Amino acid sequence: MDNLNAIVAVYEDWGIGDGCTQQVVIPEDRKYFQQLTKGNVIVVGRKTLADFPDGKPLPDRTNIVLTTQDIKIEGAIVVHSLDELFEIIKDMPKVFVVGGASVYNQLLKYCERVYITRIYTSPKSESFFPNLDENFNWSCEEFGDAKVYNGIKYRFCEYETYDISKNIRKL
Ligand SMILES: NC(=O)c1ccc[n+]([C@@H]2O[C@H](COP(=O)([O-])OP(=O)(O)OC[C@H]3O[C@@H](n4cnc5c(N)ncnc54)[C@H](OP(=O)(O)O)[C@@H]3O)[C@@H](O)[C@H]2O)c1
Repeated sequence: MDNLNAIVAVYEDWGIGDGCTQQVVIPEDRKYFQQLTKGNVIVVGRKTLADFPDGKPLPDRTNIVLTTQDIKIEGAIVVHSLDELFEIIKDMPKVFVVGGASVYNQLLKYCERVYITRIYTSPKSESFFPNLDENFNWSCEEFGDAKVYNGIKYRFCEYETYDISKNIRKL
C-alpha cells in the first residue's frame, strides 16, 4: 500500500524492546517520531499503546489501535483485524505503523518505506524487528550521519521496498 510506512528504533541486533518498553531512548529519536507522525495516522498494537504517556492515544494525530478485545478507547479508532484496518486506511494519505513487534511483523509486507533509527548498542531485547539488511526486498536509501547521545551512536535511516507484490494481499 503506497500510503503505508513504518517507523521504529532498532538496536544493533534489531532488538526493539524488552517487556513493554524500550530500554534505551534517544531524545532526538522521540522528536523525530513526533515530527514525522504529527498530523498523520498511526497504527499501534494494544500493548504498545499501554507504553504511551498515561497509556493514552497520542495527540495531534489519528490513532488506530489493533486489539481483539471488545473495548472502546477514548481518542482512538479501535479495529479488530487487518481487514478492518485496511478498509479504514485505504483512502488515508499517510499512515505510520508504530509497533509493537507483532504489528510490525504483520504489516511490514504492506509497507512502502520504513523509517529506522539505528541505535548502536545491544541491551537485552525480547522483541525484534526483521533485519532489513538481510532482506532482499528492502534497501537502505537514506543513511543519515552518525550522531552521539550519552556516548551511544545513532543515525536516522530510511529503507524502501523493491517488492512489487506488496500491494497484493495474500489471502
Ligand atoms: N523500538 C521501537 O521503535 C518500538 C516501537 C513500538 C513498540 N516497541 C516494543 O514492542 C514491544 C511490544 O510488542 P508486542 O508484539 O508485545 O505488542 P503490540 O504489537 O504492541 O500489541 C500486541 C497486541 O495488539 C493486538 N493485535 C495485534 N495484531 C492484531 C490483529 N491482527 N488483530 C487484532 N488485534 C491485534 C492484540 O491485542 P489484544 O491482546 O488486546 O487482543 C495483541 O496482543 C515492546 O517491547 C515495545 O517496547 C518498540
